[in-house]
Amino acid sequence: MDTFAFIIHPIDPKRDVSRKYPLLGRMLTERQIDFFSTFFPPVYISEITGIVSQASGKEIKGWFIACPYTPRRMLELPERTVYRKIIETGHFAERLGAQILGLGAYTSVIGDAGLTVARALEIPVTTGDSYTVAVAVEAVREAARRMDIPLRQATAAVVGATGAIGRVCAELLAGDVAELILIGRREEKLVALRDHIQTVTAPRCATLRVSTRVDDIAEAQLILTVTSAVQAIIHPEQLQPGSVVCDVARPRDVAATVAAARQDVLVIDGGMVDVPGEVDFHFDFGFPPRKAYACMAETMVLALEGRFEDYTVGKEISRSRVEEIARLAARHGFRLSGFRSFERAVTEEQIERVRQNARRAARPS
Ligand SMILES: NC(=O)c1ccc[n+]([C@@H]2O[C@H](COP(=O)([O-])OP(=O)(O)OC[C@H]3O[C@@H](n4cnc5c(N)ncnc54)[C@H](OP(=O)(O)O)[C@@H]3O)[C@@H](O)[C@H]2O)c1
Repeated sequence: MDTFAFIIHPIDPKRDVSRKYPLLGRMLTERQIDFFSTFFPPVYISEITGIVSQASGKEIKGWFIACPYTPRRMLELPERTVYRKIIETGHFAERLGAQILGLGAYTSVIGDAGLTVARALEIPVTTGDSYTVAVAVEAVREAARRMDIPLRQATAAVVGATGAIGRVCAELLAGDVAELILIGRREEKLVALRDHIQTVTAPRCATLRVSTRVDDIAEAQLILTVTSAVQAIIHPEQLQPGSVVCDVARPRDVAATVAAARQDVLVIDGGMVDVPGEVDFHFDFGFPPRKAYACMAETMVLALEGRFEDYTVGKEISRSRVEEIARLAARHGFRLSGFRSFERAVTEEQIERVRQNARRAARPS
């Protein structure tokens, strides 16, 4: 049977450590977990069984393994120390018998996005970012439809537009909407991105604007946010009634206070997909049964295809890879899943409530 492994790591330290070590998660503070994670070896998490292609009937098997560092730790430590730990985790995957390795969350953000790790390992590597882009953009389109926001007339914003995932999401959305605001921290990178998008998406390109102020999301009905910020950067007062925010970032970009304070805004997690077959992860990473992050799914799709090659590595994600992996994933039976918001499923009634609240909020008093 063909095999894969996927590296996860603690994002919310207490919650995630509790999932594997309930006692440690209860006893240690967040800062202590951060500190001790430096000395922890890679951790075997679970076997993943039951993934079966709808196209070929092929079944694959995989493993979750954990790199113990938290995002904060990965940013604090020297890059080569972080690479060393990820590579050590990759060697563990090789010993388990994995034929391809997926890099989850921050292990794909740090440094050169998998290039150094791929060079050091015998098995190929993918960050999963191509399929993450495809699913995030599909989620925004679907959310717009459900919220009655006409795409062609909409203003959208991509926050973290100059990042690896953000730039391709922006490129794809530029072909969909009327106006697109590219938001990032560095003006010159944003201007270069704007010029690039204008060239590659002409003649059907949205009017593009660049901004270094996250507050400018107030002008957008559709927001895709995908920064590598360690703290939330989107807060309740920044959003217009009836808007949609698709949060692809892990840790999240959208503050938890938005869920409580803004019942007139739809916040969805980017990147959740249904996995074909009776998949059992033998580990609760916070999703309902048989659902995975798109980045995990990319590794699975490649194993189902028998494409044991470095697929998405480095910060330059190509649009053709995004389109290819979306096509392959659909063929094997992976689908954009229902929406989730802050760890909970979004129901049809909730969407209707958001729409009603938005109409009420927009009405002049
Ligand atoms: N949901 C999923 O399935 C999934 C899969 C893969 C990755 N991710 C997540 O996606 C996010 C981005 O990944 P990536 O590989 O695209 O990272 P990346 O290439 O490092 O890009 C991150 C972007 O965020 C910007 N940024 C960082 N801190 C910021 C802040 N405080 N305020 C505003 N912008 C800020 C960076 O700006 P500068 O250019 O100025 O540094 C950069 O444009 C990460 O959170 C990652 O964990 C999620």
